[in-house]
Amino acid sequence: MNPPLYSVSETGEGDREAVEGATLKRSAGFPPPPPSFGWSPSPAKGRGRIGERMIKYIGSKRALLGHVTGAVRAALPDGGTVCDLFSGSARVGHALKGQGFRVWSNDHNAYAHTLATAYVQADRERWAAQAEVVLTELRTVAPEAGWFTKAFCEDARFFHPDNGARIDAMRTRIEAMGLEPELKAVVLVALMEAADRVDSTAGLQMAYMKQWAPRALKPLELRLPDLLLGVAAGPCKATRGDAVEIADQVEADLVYLDPPYNQHSYLANYHCWESLVLWDKPETYGVANKRVDVKTRKSPFNSRPGIGPALQSVVERVKTPNLIVSFNDEGYLSRDDLTAMLSARGHVQVVEIPRPRYVGARIGIHNRKGEKVGAVGRLRNVEHLFVVTQEPLSLPVAA
Ligand SMILES: C[S@@+](CC[C@H](N)C(=O)[O-])C[C@H]1O[C@@H](n2cnc3c(N)ncnc32)[C@H](O)[C@@H]1O
Repeated sequence: MNPPLYSVSETGEGDREAVEGATLKRSAGFPPPPPSFGWSPSPAKGRGRIGERMIKYIGSKRALLGHVTGAVRAALPDGGTVCDLFSGSARVGHALKGQGFRVWSNDHNAYAHTLATAYVQADRERWAAQAEVVLTELRTVAPEAGWFTKAFCEDARFFHPDNGARIDAMRTRIEAMGLEPELKAVVLVALMEAADRVDSTAGLQMAYMKQWAPRALKPLELRLPDLLLGVAAGPCKATRGDAVEIADQVEADLVYLDPPYNQHSYLANYHCWESLVLWDKPETYGVANKRVDVKTRKSPFNSRPGIGPALQSVVERVKTPNLIVSFNDEGYLSRDDLTAMLSARGHVQVVEIPRPRYVGARIGIHNRKGEKVGAVGRLRNVEHLFVVTQEPLSLPVAA
């Protein structure tokens, strides 16, 4: 059994959405994933345990990849260009690139941009061999504790100090190498994923285990990320922009929107990755040692009054005949709100996908005395895919 979590979030309970990829033993009781309804299986099929390699990310569409890519292919049977404006872990863009679509992935956080640069923009044939050379060198770097170890292994305890010293030394070396941006992104993703595999959290950098999680005691190991070959349709790209600010520039055969749907800030939940990628050693605050700019870098999509106008603005301004929007039944906007907003762009079909909720809802969150705090809520929610096209599509499960 895993030890209880220290609750160090402002909410005191942490998020309650599913953290895809969380591997705590007590999550083993989750119900099996829903059937694929005859849609294509995950495009990761044949790639071994690729889903396990990517970072744990709340709201990741890892388990819904078959649904999302199936809907994209139904709308674009002959391929085309797809823009993912809230790319997060980059799984969706990676899956679509793997199916030959020309993908543009965007996110406003630097760590997400780095993930998309590696998984969507960088082509395997161009960078894999060079990245292996860099990773081989990094594996020989002598551990040396520094800013990361102090902030995230001693003051907070997200990683074991032995791994903190490895991360500090490797990250310092990466910065000194002066790598080209795509190569640097691939190497940073290798480091981020290696750190993620030995963390001592349940998937959010707001709370850590009271005692080290067993995996945190293992030495961090670098692996080459699963880079994809370039696609015939043209170069894929990753950008770091605010979705509302760049919506006017977006032109694609299909736009995929997977915005946050509640108050929890991704920057706050993944502040260690932001600091690791930017390597700006910022001033930090609170028990979780979050970057001070978490207080000022806000998204309108994390605000109940802000999300409606922000999403409406994006929906109205992107140039595309096809839109797919992911949202779940616990977000600030209801199914009716979204259907009304999207109807102006075309015919709306809604796919419903039941999902298990955040692992913490099952484990329970504990305070520093080891007492359980907060009530356990619902254990399942429903993910919705709103598929907006000029003509109705034949979708297997559309309400
Ligand atoms: C639900 S997650 C996307 C998950 C992603 N589809 C995946 O499978 O990993 C929402 C993402 O939106 C990003 N985000 C929040 N506000 C944004 C904004 N104003 N512009 C661009 N990205 C934003 C967050 O950083 C987060 O990665």
